[in-house]
Amino acid sequence: MRSIISITDLTLEEIEHLIAVARDIIVHPERYSAVCRGKKLATLFFEPSTRTRLSFEAAMQELGGTVLGFSEAQSSSAAKGESVADTARTVSCYADIIAMRHPKEGAPMVAAQHATVPVINGGDGGHNHPTQTLADLLTIHMEKGRFDNLTVGFCGDLKFGRTVHSLITAMARYPGVRFVLISPEELKVPSYVKIPLKANNITYIQTTELREVIPELDILYMTRVQRERFFNEADYVRLKDSYILTPDKLTNARDDLSIMHPLPRVNEIPVAIDRDPRACYFKQVLYGKYIRMALIMMLLEVTK
Ligand code: CP
Repeated sequence: MRSIISITDLTLEEIEHLIAVARDIIVHPERYSAVCRGKKLATLFFEPSTRTRLSFEAAMQELGGTVLGFSEAQSSSAAKGESVADTARTVSCYADIIAMRHPKEGAPMVAAQHATVPVINGGDGGHNHPTQTLADLLTIHMEKGRFDNLTVGFCGDLKFGRTVHSLITAMARYPGVRFVLISPEELKVPSYVKIPLKANNITYIQTTELREVIPELDILYMTRVQRERFFNEADYVRLKDSYILTPDKLTNARDDLSIMHPLPRVNEIPVAIDRDPRACYFKQVLYGKYIRMALIMMLLEVTK
């Protein structure tokens, strides 16, 4: 029994395997439609979600399993003061696997220490979001056919953006990857994410200017400014529209640029960009379901 709390809980070989399975599911969904018959997934979401929770639930249903759970802390006994540890022990009595989102960094790890079934981190505060990273990796694999020798730009709230932290950590494991980190001074990538880059001589630059660096990028990963992580509303209002990807900013971008965003978006990508063939963010949404199907199968040790 194992849990996935960080993307580094998976080896490169396991990620390769998950991508291969997800790609096979895309082509042959009927071969997987009963592999989890009799299995139950619990989705414990202490924080709002559309994509992560519903894609986990759709994933389990398309594997022939069933789902139970809650979508807000207030409708669980957390509202009465129950601990994450007790919640995890309790839900282990009802489900074969747990997907959990929590506003506190480290809460899914605590759950994993007390559950008797696998726990998957569906996002913990501003820390990690490993299954979004798997969706991002599948998207990159589908678009680029490789993970190495890519210049990846991250733009927006790189301080609180947990999807950014997880994807930098994941991509840093491949050779020849270069990072361009575009953010306001106040929203730079935290040191704990950058220290391993320095230690492993991985090239990265930090800048506040999106327009200047866009021609260099193979991938542009936009993010929203994470209002829910700010202590001060005035700071959020000042920073929220720091980067808006208007069509004119793409004039000098590569024809094969992949524009990614974990969603939800606010103002940072106008809907006009959705028609641009380089826009990949709704592909990420769809691929998220397939890669979560592959992950559930791996953790439950089922095969087609
Ligand atoms: N990308 C993502 O985590 O979306 P949700 O918050 O809707 O789950």
